[in-house]
Amino acid sequence: MSLPELAVQSLWFIFPAYIANASPVLLKGRRPLDFGKKWGKNRILGDGKTWEGTIGGIVIGTMVGLLQIYAHNSLPASLGLAKLDFAIVFLLAAGALAGDVAGSFVKRRFSIPRGAHLPVFDQLTFLVAALLFSSVAYRPGSDMIIFLFILTPIVHWATNNVAYMLKLKSNPW
Ligand code: CTP
Ligand code: MG
Repeated sequence: MSLPELAVQSLWFIFPAYIANASPVLLKGRRPLDFGKKWGKNRILGDGKTWEGTIGGIVIGTMVGLLQIYAHNSLPASLGLAKLDFAIVFLLAAGALAGDVAGSFVKRRFSIPRGAHLPVFDQLTFLVAALLFSSVAYRPGSDMIIFLFILTPIVHWATNNVAYMLKLKSNPW
């Protein structure tokens, strides 16, 4: 497989997870997932993880995945795009949000404040969980997995910078 083919096939597969991970920032949620509660001296999760963002992210990621399922028939078979189904796209979206929430949980246990940047960790927790969750329904090849671990931090960094420039986020990470 050529590198452009690998890139297109990897992006196609992971797209519902990327959308799920990126949507919460646009939803401006207010109700914290942890109900404002602490565990020890720190918040369980912090104000950066909300019900609106979490549920909205899963719904929007899944809906984009459904569009991909619908679009698959109209796209050239030569692209070799994975045939997705509801279980796969839902698990990718739910996994992305679960990984992101788990990441905040770990950060708070290490007293890293809400919004503080933890390079690599912030960018890969959602990918790891999305791949783990969806693996019960679909397992991409190891070439795709390696490619996604390299691509995701770059895409994450780029999209966060764009969100910062559009004033959707208060910091560029
Ligand atoms: N967001 C949300 N619900 C989520 C994830 C994100 O409402 N489950 C929103 C919050 O407004 C959050 C923003 O999207 O501030 C950016 O997400 P992220 O960078 O993951 O959160 P942080 O504020 O950096 O918090 P943390 O340090 O806990 O990651
Ligand atoms: Mg953050």
